[in-house]
Amino acid sequence: MPDYLSGFGNHFATEAVPGALPEGRNSPQRPAFGLYAEQLSGTAFTAPRGENRRSWLYRLRPSGIHGAYRPYAGAPAFAPTGWDRPLPPNRMRWSPLNSVKEGVDLIDGMTTMASNRDPAGMDGVTVHIYRADRDMKARAFFNADAEMLFVPQQGRLRLLTELGLLELAPGEIGLVPRGVRFRAELPDGAGRGYVGENHGHAFRLPELGPIGSNGLANPRDFLTPVARFEDRDEPFELIQKFRGGLWTVALDHSPIDVVAWHGNLAPWKYDLARFNTIGTVSFDHPDPSIFTVVTAPSDTPGTANCDFVIFPPRWMVAEDTFRPPWFHRNVMSECMGLIHGAYDAKADGFAPGALSIHNLMASHGPDLATWVKASEAVLQPHHIEGTMAFMFESRWPFAPTTQALELAELQPDYDDCWQGFPKARLP
Ligand SMILES: [Fe+2]
Repeated sequence: MPDYLSGFGNHFATEAVPGALPEGRNSPQRPAFGLYAEQLSGTAFTAPRGENRRSWLYRLRPSGIHGAYRPYAGAPAFAPTGWDRPLPPNRMRWSPLNSVKEGVDLIDGMTTMASNRDPAGMDGVTVHIYRADRDMKARAFFNADAEMLFVPQQGRLRLLTELGLLELAPGEIGLVPRGVRFRAELPDGAGRGYVGENHGHAFRLPELGPIGSNGLANPRDFLTPVARFEDRDEPFELIQKFRGGLWTVALDHSPIDVVAWHGNLAPWKYDLARFNTIGTVSFDHPDPSIFTVVTAPSDTPGTANCDFVIFPPRWMVAEDTFRPPWFHRNVMSECMGLIHGAYDAKADGFAPGALSIHNLMASHGPDLATWVKASEAVLQPHHIEGTMAFMFESRWPFAPTTQALELAELQPDYDDCWQGFPKARLP
């Protein structure tokens, strides 16, 4: 049996034990082996067919076997909410978060960096950076606020979800749908990475318009795990994120006990190296929307709640063109990270693991060193190699959290990279 099923948004059917998956009906009177049928909905029941996401789960116990949740006291940097001060319009950048906490798992190692809507509004994005070195052994997590897009930057990340196992290496991304329980392991002993929480409509592939029926991220390269479950009767902790806060409840078993499932609400992983990058073969630098991997629309057409965009290795061939990202001021807001290599708009200061925020109408673009080099370059085809930057782009401005503003890694001199440009000389 393969570990993964291929395709984006397909209706999958998978069983870890032969015969566990009912045929012809979703909730038979007596599911095989005494399993419990449960529907997990990611959209309203009446969402249009093309939007509708739901899966049927067949599990060892009903997921409702638990007591009352109480506030979770750990993870003080995870999921702080509220922004009760004026939001400065400044450009912001953090060096890689190297002050690694020790002895923490993914949940306790999460630092919420920025957010742009109240999760209760079912809209907006929250961006986190995790730094962890412990497996979640007897505790699981789920997020009622959002689907979670994981972007490992250092070390592999294993997500044991209710619907199967996602094994992610840096350069791959993985998505866990809203509400799906999982625990995380770090096979390399320690790991760091980014997490984008999408509170709104689910990520999907962008429309391709005149590009045609192929290109950018191809559906077949998205992998969804096959059914896999834990049969563990032992004390377990289940933590959930709900309306921006963390809550905990004790269980006497692992909640990752789904033996079979079918449906189109499912985790997926994607190798960013599979991205079919499209760019100019004549002149000018296209808008970065050409690099969109997945997009989460808002209720305004063409104006995303969140685009996940990458800047991968690619050929640069444009004639008579300033090839790096140009100077720009956008109505959309940008939160950028770097998985490895160097980003072609910045000579230094933006190392792998770093994070930057450029909110709407903030002037940004190449720094002085990049501008000088690109302006004076003899233009020949050249290959940008060994790099993978990415961006969460949103229609809503990002507010950094208090925790993020207090980090030693916040760069106080970020504005200086745009100093020293010579004034244009008129004739
Ligand atoms: Fe930008």
